[in-house]
Amino acid sequence: MIKFGIIGFGYMGHKHEIKIAQTKGMELVGICDIDESRMNDSSTPGVIKYTDADRLLENDEIDTVLIVVENHKHREMVEKAARAGKNIICEKPVALSVKEFDEMVQICKECEVDFTIHHQRRYDKDYRTMKTVYDKNLLGNIYTIQSMLYGINGNMHDWHVYKKYGGGMLYDWGVHLIDQILWMVQSKVESVYAQVRNVINFEVDDYFKIDIKFQNNIHAEIELGTYFLEDKENWFEHHWFIGGDKGSAYSDGFFPKGKIVKTSRLLTNVPGKTTMTFAGPTRSFGHIDKDILLTEELPVADTEQIDFFENYRDAREGQTEFIIKIPEIRRVMQILEAVWKSSEKNEVIKFDGGL
Ligand SMILES: NC(=O)c1ccc[n+]([C@@H]2O[C@H](COP(=O)([O-])OP(=O)(O)OC[C@H]3O[C@@H](n4cnc5c(N)ncnc54)[C@H](O)[C@@H]3O)[C@@H](O)[C@H]2O)c1
Repeated sequence: MIKFGIIGFGYMGHKHEIKIAQTKGMELVGICDIDESRMNDSSTPGVIKYTDADRLLENDEIDTVLIVVENHKHREMVEKAARAGKNIICEKPVALSVKEFDEMVQICKECEVDFTIHHQRRYDKDYRTMKTVYDKNLLGNIYTIQSMLYGINGNMHDWHVYKKYGGGMLYDWGVHLIDQILWMVQSKVESVYAQVRNVINFEVDDYFKIDIKFQNNIHAEIELGTYFLEDKENWFEHHWFIGGDKGSAYSDGFFPKGKIVKTSRLLTNVPGKTTMTFAGPTRSFGHIDKDILLTEELPVADTEQIDFFENYRDAREGQTEFIIKIPEIRRVMQILEAVWKSSEKNEVIKFDGGL
């Protein structure tokens, strides 16, 4: 039985409480928040409530802690927990820099505690579906992967709008989206080019576009905007497009709605045929005969975010490895630093020998 303590019982702390209750072999012993009122609605019978993390860490029954405080406190809290001999799952972004992350890893190593990060979006259904398309090589040689996430209301909230707390969308969704792409492509990164902007927020980034060029010649593009005003009903969707020389795949929404699309006849060298469109006559972008297009269903993945907790339990029991590995997250942090540098200098950041 893994006996947990949760430090930081805000929005995400509550979500972890539910996941622990739903996962066999786990029990929540204690929760801690400096704001006592946030623990009033805990749903775990008999859970011990603390307002000081040091007191929770003194409880010998707790062998594992989830660190779910604001981003700028992760470094300090991971050190405290490691020195108290607790195994650690830290929320993302694990750290605010590669340097901070390296220090945390070193401390956990010295204290001989397990350390992993809650990058549960590796289990998102839409992502895993597109990863299956990629892994099974269903589209031939892939040349582009696009991952796009847009919010229409510019809704950045609470401490996320302040730099000193580790706010901004790169630390929020950016680390998930970068991690998903790196874990999908599994090739060294040759270069990064990025635009990071403050569209309506004064302090922190609320828009970014990142180009990642991999050594295997795949080019990935990640775009996130919190302020894409459109009067659509489905306002929060993760969109994917993967293009290969044998077909394309697209998906919209966290429950993937999309298709694999192929053609029965490649139109690489055909006599020009003019179609009239609203934009005027066109030959390259005109209609094609319907019977040329072949569509296939996406191989919708059977994954849920709670699988992160099952993996954690199984890894602790020695049956498998942690899905989230320290070197992988270090690489995410390195890409993040390259993103800022590229945007500040308006330069392509190249990695000699690949990253
Ligand atoms: N993996 C994900 O999908 C995901 C989603 C949301 C948030 N998060 C991460 O979870 C973390 C928390 O985010 P949130 O949205 O829950 O924030 P939140 O503000 O709702 O909760 C943070 C809580 O930590 C408490 N806290 C601060 N300092 C403390 C201390 N020293 N001891 C005990 N409690 C303390 C605060 O009082 C607050 O209740 C962040 O790192 C965030 O990036 C991850």
